[in-house]
Amino acid sequence: MPDSEHELRSYGRRRGRKPSPRQSGLLQDDLPRLTFDPASPPQGFKQTWLEIGFGGGEHLLWQARHNPDVALIGCEPFEDGVIKVLTAITTDDLKNIRLHMGDARDVVRSIPAASIDRAFILFPDPWPKRKHRKRRLVNSSLLALLANVMRTGAELRIGTDIGDYARTMLEAFAIEPRFVWQADSPEDWRIRPSDWPETRYEAKAVREGRNRYYLRFLRA
Ligand SMILES: C[S@@+](CC[C@H](N)C(=O)[O-])C[C@H]1O[C@@H](n2cnc3c(N)ncnc32)[C@H](O)[C@@H]1O
Repeated sequence: MPDSEHELRSYGRRRGRKPSPRQSGLLQDDLPRLTFDPASPPQGFKQTWLEIGFGGGEHLLWQARHNPDVALIGCEPFEDGVIKVLTAITTDDLKNIRLHMGDARDVVRSIPAASIDRAFILFPDPWPKRKHRKRRLVNSSLLALLANVMRTGAELRIGTDIGDYARTMLEAFAIEPRFVWQADSPEDWRIRPSDWPETRYEAKAVREGRNRYYLRFLRA
């Protein structure tokens, strides 16, 4: 089993601008009660979904609003993204989001086997320089962790705009028999499903003319 002490950091900065007093209030007063606690998981929801690296929260919030009967665990170490989601949760009184401001791998290690019904990793940091590629989040270690916590039939969705990252992801999936790639034709990975809203990072990839790859796997 991969072990957190030997894991490389897969994210960039944790903080952008200094939070305003209102934002500091959200972090101090609201984040603690909305932080995911594996000892006390959200109750009364028909499923639990996990988003790793939600960035500005566009996808997490869309899914939470469209699926009020699903509990969503959102993980993101970047404080500014967490503040955006906290603002939306408190403004719109969203009941079905729990947050982890930190490395998602810590959450995945803390939750019971077969407890996640769907997981999303949308446009993970590309780490384009060759010497940094070992920092890429989606690798065989992460897949082993996710395979443990996803129930049979659960779906894992991954998006990327980096061709060689898509290729190394698929190589990692090819040697993990617990995930089966759902692709019969190129449309299956070229076209984003309608219940997969565009994220901010994806919009940038579109503007800059990069291809996007939408990969879907089922836990066998
Ligand atoms: C390129 S951004 C994409 C953000 C968003 N998913 C989107 O599509 O706009 C990748 C995000 O993953 C986060 N991230 C990287 N490693 C992570 C980890 N181990 N756990 C949770 N989030 C992580 C980064 O902080 C960053 O916000």
